Amino acid sequence: MPEYLPSNLDLIHPILWDEKGLLLLDQRLLPWKEKYLRLRSWQEVREAIREMVVRGAPAIGITAAIGMVLGAEKIRARSRKDFLAKLRRIGEGLKKARPTAVNLSWAVERILKRAEDEDLSSPDLIEALREEALSIWEEDIAANRRMGRLGAALLPDKGAVLTHCNAGALATGGYGTALGVIRAAFEAGKEIEVFADETRPWLQGARLTAWELKKVGIPVTVIPDVAAGSLMRQGKISACVVGADRIAANGDVANKIGTYSVAVLARENKIPFYVAAPRSTIDLSTPTGEAIPIEWRDPKEVHYCGEKRLTPKGVSAANPAFDVTPAVYVQSIITEVAVAKAPYEKSLKALFKEGV
Ligand code: MRU
Repeated sequence: MPEYLPSNLDLIHPILWDEKGLLLLDQRLLPWKEKYLRLRSWQEVREAIREMVVRGAPAIGITAAIGMVLGAEKIRARSRKDFLAKLRRIGEGLKKARPTAVNLSWAVERILKRAEDEDLSSPDLIEALREEALSIWEEDIAANRRMGRLGAALLPDKGAVLTHCNAGALATGGYGTALGVIRAAFEAGKEIEVFADETRPWLQGARLTAWELKKVGIPVTVIPDVAAGSLMRQGKISACVVGADRIAANGDVANKIGTYSVAVLARENKIPFYVAAPRSTIDLSTPTGEAIPIEWRDPKEVHYCGEKRLTPKGVSAANPAFDVTPAVYVQSIITEVAVAKAPYEKSLKALFKEGV
């Protein structure tokens, strides 16, 4: 059966794709079970993104791009206009799955643009869209590897790096952003160990980052989120590296809830706080962090840990899934083309100049 896979595939596979559809490693079940879910329609893809079978900004983008192709395969259109209108509606549906990660709409727009540029009467149209989705995926892995090399140079030869959430292979097309930087430093011979914030309530750190780092052989210690400040104060952390869901034009960074606390604590303790993200996460059309839509998820995720209820019945819980770290706390933004520094209005814009 033909498989649609990038040529530079990583050793951890959150996403697989073949003629029968998309296969997603169900991240809700990790680290207990490694099980793939088979998805055949764009609606199933939208649900999988919403339910966080797949999560992490770049991985959501790649999944949505493949969802667009699955949707396009089934469109029966009377005209070019009709096809594009139907594809656009699918794109709108996918974009609504989760609002904060800009990679989702970025990837949907890229597929739409490719469809608009193609000759729609061509039998190769689906092939062209498939090629575009694969390029998005392949470029993401390549970007992570380049970002890794650039970021690794910022880490000490020996030390402990704190990370929040999961910004690894599981959250991307492969290799990871923040974890890519850590992996690249480790591969370059640096003696790096990792402190992973458990990342309540969804436990991306305890479940996913720990699982992933164990797989690649990097020493990892999971800590309760609330322990980060104390470890920093004791001099046990050399640097913090996190990923991002959306970076505004002024360098404000939206990432998993709790990232802001890590950044403030890092600054207080004079520890560098780095953000690693591809250019597809930078949204120059959003001027500041205030304009970034923040997803609020079901309070159930706070009330329960697995099947077990933690809170008394009758109390309420709030579940903002992301926060915004003001640019002033960010030492550098590591991208695939350069390491950007403040003032970010200027340095982020420069990353998109032709020839960069
Ligand atoms: O809710 P999630 O698990 O999708 O949140 C993921 C994060 O916040 C990641 O840090 C971010 O998407 C960067 S992934 C390379």
